[in-house]
Parts: sequence; structure tokens; C-alpha cells
Amino acid sequence: MSDQLVFRPSEAAVANTYATKSQYEEMYARSIREPEAFWAEQAKRIDWIKPFTKVKNTSFAYPDVSIKWFEDGVLNIAANCIDRHLATRGDQAAIIWEGDDPGTQEVITYNQLHKEVCRFANVLKANGVKKGDRVTIYMPMIPAASYAMLACARIGAVHSVVFGGFSPDALAGRITDCQSRVVITADEGRRGGKTVPLKANVDQALKNGAEADTVLVIRNTGNDIAMQAGRDLWFHEAAEGVDSDCPAEPMNAEDPLFVLYTSGSTGRPKGVLHTTGGYLVWAALTHQYAFDYQDGEVYWCTADVGWVTGHTYIVYGPLANGATTLMFEGIPSYPDAGRFWEVIDKHKVNIFYTAPTAIRALMGAGSQWVDKADLSSLRLIGSVGEPINPEAWLWYNKHVGHERCTVIDTWWQTETGGILISPLPGAVAAKPGSATLPFFGVQPVVLSPEGVVQSETKAEGVLAIKDSWPGQARTIWGDHDRFVSTYFETYKGLYFTGDGCRRDEDGYYWITGRVDDVLNISGHRLGTAEIESALVGHPKVSEAAVVGYPHDIKGQGIYCYVTLMAGESYDDELKTELRNWVRKEIGPIATPDLIQWAPGLPKTRSGKIMRRILRKVAENEFGSLGDTSTLADPAVVENLVENRQNRP
Ligand code: PRX
Repeated sequence: MSDQLVFRPSEAAVANTYATKSQYEEMYARSIREPEAFWAEQAKRIDWIKPFTKVKNTSFAYPDVSIKWFEDGVLNIAANCIDRHLATRGDQAAIIWEGDDPGTQEVITYNQLHKEVCRFANVLKANGVKKGDRVTIYMPMIPAASYAMLACARIGAVHSVVFGGFSPDALAGRITDCQSRVVITADEGRRGGKTVPLKANVDQALKNGAEADTVLVIRNTGNDIAMQAGRDLWFHEAAEGVDSDCPAEPMNAEDPLFVLYTSGSTGRPKGVLHTTGGYLVWAALTHQYAFDYQDGEVYWCTADVGWVTGHTYIVYGPLANGATTLMFEGIPSYPDAGRFWEVIDKHKVNIFYTAPTAIRALMGAGSQWVDKADLSSLRLIGSVGEPINPEAWLWYNKHVGHERCTVIDTWWQTETGGILISPLPGAVAAKPGSATLPFFGVQPVVLSPEGVVQSETKAEGVLAIKDSWPGQARTIWGDHDRFVSTYFETYKGLYFTGDGCRRDEDGYYWITGRVDDVLNISGHRLGTAEIESALVGHPKVSEAAVVGYPHDIKGQGIYCYVTLMAGESYDDELKTELRNWVRKEIGPIATPDLIQWAPGLPKTRSGKIMRRILRKVAENEFGSLGDTSTLADPAVVENLVENRQNRP
């Protein structure tokens, strides 16, 4: 191996693994050589009501993109995640819930999960929800959020989980786009000792243009909230006397399971659609192999169910494998920076999966918090969501993993359904900062920006994937053309990820971040277009351009250039007002970090904003602005440089 910093699998990791180096290589080669046979075999890990006879029917050929896996098979995901485990592990913990407040916890066994999900499903049915209907879930991180998801899956409804940190307007757009008639929420959520007014946000969303017939409200904090007669129902009242058994609806493998909204480089967030059979096979297989999950282990993914990581690696993957999955309501810094480590010791967590931004924040809080914890239960620690800088990787390895645990950096996306690039713990040596090698069936391709496939092992460019894998998104809700043009038009015949990457001489992949106008703020994906559109929605703003810049903790920060309407005064008070405005329009995660007043934006003579220049100024690299001769007014740039906000 070329690079100096290489961490080979430990003996313990090899002894514990489902795939040693040679097994990984063999299985990977076979998955590419004989995808039909490979996936037919792998799909046996789940229970089929009616077995499939066809395995793979996929085409990336532009514009006739079509993706189908196991297309004539019939199954039910909730039955796979719950019912089939009851005979062998009914009394095992399915979910361990740790509340925001350190004194609160709950353990839900598979038997209990069955009962809760069935009751939930019956409440949905009683309120008219049928197979194929969309249901929006806007919930805190409490067990009922997973009951709601699994209840939808049980009756064949399509869930759309909206992160509880999104604003009423963001929620309204998502309810309207997929036409859900039912919204599931809680009175309030809790996060870091504060309450989040979820139900009030739903009320606001439904006032601002979204429509729903029914709002089902879980009582969580118990504080007073407004209920609208005829529309709002308390879940506990609706559930009185309902049957605690509910048959699982037979679903076709290609029936939709969920829609999840994610940001793209242009326009409004898009509803990425995942279907049933392929997604579950992918979730279960990747969860088993990437984490080497062993029976009886306690597994904790710190994501929120409002993101894809929560879907695949808190709910569907672990439960399909009969695992014990920990669900955490709180945040890493409450009541103090030792919380994660206390939770690990308290519940004897074996596998811990979090985001680089949390690692960097906790590293910044000082090692004393983590060093006083025991952490001897840990076996594997993982990261996801953004590139992990080697410094954070090494800190994680030393202070959390005690140089004894396996560390995995997993690369994937909402659209991929689950992990695509990650070291398998017993097979692949890690290099800090690299997601390493592809998972079974995944064929990464590195292209020059002009679209030339780089055939040398050592290469740099943009990342695409050559052929379909079962967990791949099938379309964008209501807009298949957008699906095709976003992912399959730029590089014909390939799935374009939107990420830049480098492949080293050992064939390892190093993801360098987005090459499009998508930001990654603390592991959360945000489109610059969305923030710009929020800014220009303010009556005093005439024009806005948003770019990312390197941020020590968040990975990327949000840098906004704002031009005001004629006659408005550029002052600090207005900056605060604009910050609050964007928070209100989208949610706290979209709060601008830096706002620069820009009486003019750099534009070409045809009026196109030159974002390259804006990025350079935001990155404080104004010495290398490149060619500015095509600008309509080169003096604009001088003004921008002079008033730049990101000075060291
Ligand atoms: O840029 C990549 C980054 O996150 C993007 C996907 O974001 P999202 O759909 O919200 O899913 C996040 C959780 C899977 C990617 O296009 N990303 C994700 N994981 C990594 C990463 N970048 C570098 N290394 C990773 N391990």
C-alpha cells in the first residue's frame, strides 16, 4: 500500500467478519460478473410472500432510464422487519430509546414493536389510509416515529418523513408535492433541553397553502396545543380499542415504500422515491456487511429519521436483520459534550455510526469529555454524510475507538438508498479520509469534467456509477423527467453522483465533495438555489447568490451575497433580519453564516452570475480569481474582495 497511514483490519475484526479480504474480492467479482445469480442469492435474506422470477431489469440508457429489481416478487417490509423475528427473538430489544433528558429511556421488544406497529396501522386504516396513499411524518426522534414508518409499510402507504427541524413552509411544500392527505406529528419535540413546536408548525403549514384531511397527533411533551375539530386527532384517542393485529399487505417489489425530499442544484427539493424489494435487500445486506453486525449487538446510528441515514440505518436495515437499534432523541452537546459517550457506556453500545461534523464538534469541545468514558463495549465506529478530514478520523480512532475498534467511512446518498463505498471491516484496510472500496455490485467510474472515463487506476474527476444496484432510487415523485435529467443526462449511460473524487494507486476512492450547487452543511444537504430563493423572497432583497466555504465544524458554511432594492440601507440590523428570515423560511440548518452586502454581483455580459468568482472570494482565495475578462463590469469584483467576510 502506498500511503503511509494505513490501518489494516485487526485480528479481532477478521475473526468477527462476514467477509475476509479474499471473500470480499470473490464476492465483489461475482457481483459484477454474474449480477443475476449474485442478487438472486442475496435476496434470499428476506422473506418473500411470492418469490421473484426476474432479478434485474435495469437500463441507464438516456432518456429511457428504467430500474426494476425482483419485479414480480411480493413481500412486506414490516413483516420482514418485525413478524419474521417474533418466533426467535420476540423478547429481544428491537429499539432502545434514549430521551433528550438523560433520565429517560425505553426498551421496545420485537413483540412490543409488533403490537405498536399493528395498532398504528389500524389507526391509519380507520382514517381512510389505503395502499399507495402518501402519509407525511413530521416527528421528533421518539419510537412512535418508527412505528409510523413501519405502519405505513405494513399497509402499503408511502411515507414521506420530513425532518422536524424544517420550517412550516418547507413542510408545506413537501406535503403539497406528494399530495399527502394525512400528517402524523407530535404535540412537541425535545432537543437539547428545548421544545420544538411541531404541531404548531403543522398548523402553520396547513394555513400556508398545504392541505390535509387528517392530522394525527402523538402526545409527547403533554403541553397544551391547539386542536382543530374535524381535522386533528389525538393518536391515543384514535387508538383506543383498535385491534393489536393487522395483516401485512402483500406488496410488489417495485411498489413505492417512501418518498424523501432532498436538495438538488436547482429548483425545489425533489422527492426521491424508493421502492420495496431492492431497497430492503440493500438495507439489510449493507447493514450486515458494512458493520459486520452480529446477533445480540447493540447498534447506534445517531442520525435523525428525517434523513435517509435514519431510514436505512436506524429503522429498515437493522430491523430487517433482527438487530437492537438505539434511537436517540437528543443532541451531542446536551446536557454536556459527554452525552454520546455516556449513552454508549449506559447501553453498552457495540457499533456507533455518526457524522464527521459531530466528531469535529466533540473534538473541539476537548478530549476530557470522551476520555473519562469507558467505551470498552465499542467494536466498530463509523462515519457518514460528508468527507471526514484525516485529523478528525485519527481523533475518532484514538479517543473513541481507543485504537482497537474498526473505523469505517461510508459514502452514499439519499438516492443510493444505502452504502455504496465503504471498507468492509474484516477485509479492507482503512486510510483516513478515504471511503475506500465499492460495496458488492457497485461499479464506480471516475470521469474528467468533460466526461472522459479515466481508465488509469490513479485518476481524479467526478464520480459516476456504471450500473444499477438494488437499493437505487427509482424516480423523483411526480417528475421522472427530472430524475432522468438530473442523474443520467450529463454523462450518458451512467448514474452521475454530483460528487468529485480522486482514485489513488490502490484503487481507493477519496470523495472531495459536491461539484454542483449543493452544499453540505453539517452533513445536511442544502441547495444554494433554495437559500437564494428564500433571500429574494424578503421584500428588501433584490438579488442573492449563495455559495459554500470551508467551515471548521460544519464542513461547509453558508456564504450569501445580497443586493438590496434601490433605496434600502445596508446595515447590520438587516443582516440579522435576513438570517432570521432564512431560518423561518427553511429551518435553522439553513441559517446563513456570513452575509456580504453586494451592491453588484459579477455577471457575464449575458447576465449569468459567475459563481466561480463568488466561491473564490468566499474561500478567501481571491488571489486566483482566474479569467475575469468576460465580466460585464470587472470593478464589481474589486468591491467584493474588499468587503469579503471570511477573513482569517
Ligand atoms: O457529497 C456526498 C456527501 O453527502 C452527499 C449525500 O447527501 P445525502 O443525500 O443527504 O445523504 C447523506 C447520508 C448518506 C454525497 O453526495 N457524503 C455522504 N457521505 C460521504 C459524503 N462525502 C464524503 N464522504 C462520505 N463518507
